[in-house]
Amino acid sequence: MAQWVTVWRAAQLVGVPRGKLQQRVRAGEIELADGLVSTETLLKLYPQTQLEESGLLERVTQIRDESFGRRVRERLLPNQEVLAQRLFRQTQALADVQRHLQRYHTLVIALRDRLNRLLREPGGDDPRLLDLQRQLNDGLARALATEPVDVLDVMDDMLKVMSAQVTLRPSGHQFAVEGHDTLLQAGMRAGLKLNYGCGNGSCGMCKVRVTAGQVVRTMATDYPLSENEKTQGYVLACAHTAASSELTLETLEARGPADIPQQQIVTTVRAVRALAPDTMLLHLQTPRSHRLRFLAGQSVTLGLAEGDGLRRSYPIASCPCDDRNLQFFIARDATDPLAARLFAGGLKHGDAVTVWGPSGEFVLVDDVHPLVFAACDTGFAPVKSLIEHALSLDASPSISLFWLATRADGHFMANQCRAWSEALDPFEYSLSTHADAATGASQMSAAIRADLFDIDCAFYVAGPAPFVDALCAELSAAGVPRSQVHAEVMG
Ligand code: FES
Repeated sequence: MAQWVTVWRAAQLVGVPRGKLQQRVRAGEIELADGLVSTETLLKLYPQTQLEESGLLERVTQIRDESFGRRVRERLLPNQEVLAQRLFRQTQALADVQRHLQRYHTLVIALRDRLNRLLREPGGDDPRLLDLQRQLNDGLARALATEPVDVLDVMDDMLKVMSAQVTLRPSGHQFAVEGHDTLLQAGMRAGLKLNYGCGNGSCGMCKVRVTAGQVVRTMATDYPLSENEKTQGYVLACAHTAASSELTLETLEARGPADIPQQQIVTTVRAVRALAPDTMLLHLQTPRSHRLRFLAGQSVTLGLAEGDGLRRSYPIASCPCDDRNLQFFIARDATDPLAARLFAGGLKHGDAVTVWGPSGEFVLVDDVHPLVFAACDTGFAPVKSLIEHALSLDASPSISLFWLATRADGHFMANQCRAWSEALDPFEYSLSTHADAATGASQMSAAIRADLFDIDCAFYVAGPAPFVDALCAELSAAGVPRSQVHAEVMG
C-alpha cells in the first residue's frame, strides 16, 4: 500500500534536489494530497529507486570503513543515546500500530462470525447479508495477501532512525538533523536563517518551542529558562537535538538582512594563503563563544587593531553555516592598505582582525527559480557563499555559474567549481577570460543567452562596476525582469 511523505522527504528518498520535485509538482506530474506525495507516484516517476541510489546504504557502508574515521560517523549517525531514543520511539509507534491492528482484526473476525451465524438462521438468505459476506471475505483476502515491499517505505523507516525530520512553524521550512548536530547547527546547515546569538547556551536567543515530538539536551547551558517557558515546551536550539524522528518547532526566522543584528567581533587570523599571484585567501576565526551571524552574500568591514586607516569592506566567501570560520578573497590592490599589508606578509597566523557588520542586500531571495550566478574576478567571493547556501537549501532545480577573469590566472578556485560540478547534478559552470570587464560581460551575456535564455531564471551578478553594469544592461535588454536580477558592485 502506498505511503505518503513530504516533498522534502521524497527528494531525500529518490536522491534528487527538492527543487526538481517541486518543478514536477508545478508541471502537474506529481499530485499532492495535503502537501504529501505518495510513494506509489514516486516509484512510477523514479522506478530505479533503490537504497543504493539514495546514497543511504553507501553512506552506511562508508561508515564501516575505518579510513573515514570518527568524523564521518559523527556527521551521519547520532550518538548512542539519541539513536536509542529514536529507536525506542519508533518501536513504541510500531507497537501502537500492532495493538490497533490486533483490535481491528479481533473486531472483523467477530463481525464475520456474527454474519455467518445470521446467515444460518431462518430467513438468513437475505441478499444484502450475502453481499456483505462476500464483500467482507474479499476484503479479508486482499488485506491478508502478501504484497511486494514498498522500498521507499523501508527507506523512510531507516531515515527516520538515522536522521530526524524537523518542521518549523509558521514558515513550514523543513530540515534533517544528522549526526551529532544540534537543532541550531542542523538548521543552519540546511541554509535556514534561524534566530541565534552565542551558539553556546548563554544568550537565550535561539529559544524554540517544541510543539510535537521530543528533544534531548546535548550540553549544559547557562541561560535560565523560566518554569513557565519550560512548561510551554521552550528549549534552546543550540543545546538540544531531536530525540524523535519527527519534530515540529515554533520559532522566528530572519526574513532578510534587516533582521540580522550588527556585530563587532575581534577575530584571529587562522591562515593566509596565496590562491593565485594576485589573490590571497584570508581565513579568520571568531572566538568560540562569539560567532558572526550573517547571510550568504553579505560583506563585513575588516580592520586591524592598530590603525583606523586599515579598514575596508569585503564580501564573505564562506557559508553562514560555519559562522566561526570566515573566508575572504583579497585581490592585490595598491590603493587598499589592508590588501597591501596582506601581500607584503604583514598579517600572520594569530594576528587580531576586528570584524564589523554584516552589511549588504546581495542575498538569496526565497524562491525556486533556476539560479544563474555571474562573477568577475573576486566577485566570486559572495557568489561562492551564495552557491554554498543554495546547495544547502537544495530548493533550486539547477545552478549555473559563469565566471569571468580579467587576468590569465584569475580563476583562482577553478578546482572548487570542478568539484561542485562532478559531485552535484544540478550544477554547471563556465569559465571565461577577457582583459576588459565590460567586453567580457557582453560575451558572457551571449553565453548565458545561448544556454539559458528560454528559462525563467534568477540572476546574481557580482564584480567591478563595468562588469555589473554591462551585464545587467544586457540582461535587461534581453527582457529579464529587474526583480529577477540581483547585483553587487565591488571595489
Ligand atoms: S544561541 Fe545563545 S543560547 Fe543558543
